[in-house]
Amino acid sequence: MVTTRTPLIAGNWKMNLDHLQAIAFVQKLAWSLKDAKHDFESVEAAVFPPFTDLRSVQTLLDADKLVLALGAQDLSAQDSGAYTGEISGRFLSKLDVRYVLVGHSERRTLHAEDDGVVATKVAAAHRSGLVPVICVGETAADLEQHGPSAVPVAQLRAALAEVPASAEIVVAYEPVWAIGSGQAATAEQAGQVCSALRTALADVAGSDAAAATRILYGGSVKSSNIASFMREPDVDGALVGGASLDVDEFASIVRFQAHVGV
Ligand code: PGA
Repeated sequence: MVTTRTPLIAGNWKMNLDHLQAIAFVQKLAWSLKDAKHDFESVEAAVFPPFTDLRSVQTLLDADKLVLALGAQDLSAQDSGAYTGEISGRFLSKLDVRYVLVGHSERRTLHAEDDGVVATKVAAAHRSGLVPVICVGETAADLEQHGPSAVPVAQLRAALAEVPASAEIVVAYEPVWAIGSGQAATAEQAGQVCSALRTALADVAGSDAAAATRILYGGSVKSSNIASFMREPDVDGALVGGASLDVDEFASIVRFQAHVGV
């Protein structure tokens, strides 16, 4: 592989698995990866459970010294105060959460999170020492109207408006039409948009930051297509939804290096 960035395979569980199911799942996942002698340093694996699971998963990771990273699916734009139902990034970092999704298309469409909200949440994540996984992607209508990269690039630029260029981020390119549809982008399509995103990052944050930032592809990723995405030089991992809920399937995606070139 051309890239020297450590690939990241992130499992977004969405609103699935309660805390008991989460413990069983993470134990099984860790065993399965250990059995397969997965090198956790060469490919980082992260799970993004619902908020109510985080404490249980954190306790398990800590007690069993598991090297899976923990992510959250959202955070408040505020750090504390009268915001009923919201979760502060500070609470998340206290639970050893490292990553937090920001701007997932389901938040953008179902919870009316626009680019301004996304930018304030990226800033909140940064203030709390979390690494935002900034999700960007075009709808089918955007694709027809603007082509593949204009909307994701504009979303990324907007998301970075309130953080310093030095802020550590991960970018996830998720075409909305590919999420949960079973119809993934082609590796070439993903590679092209990820390359455009890296160019935009270089413009906003400088070429060193752009070269160091991981850009993931998401949208109907499976064990059978992960290798093709990972062969693209600007794709540094995957954000996996549905397939992250099946232990064997997710473990196989994490172990993509075993099937690159197949
Ligand atoms: P999917 O979801 O893998 O089920 O398409 C991806 C996501 O929403 O992050």
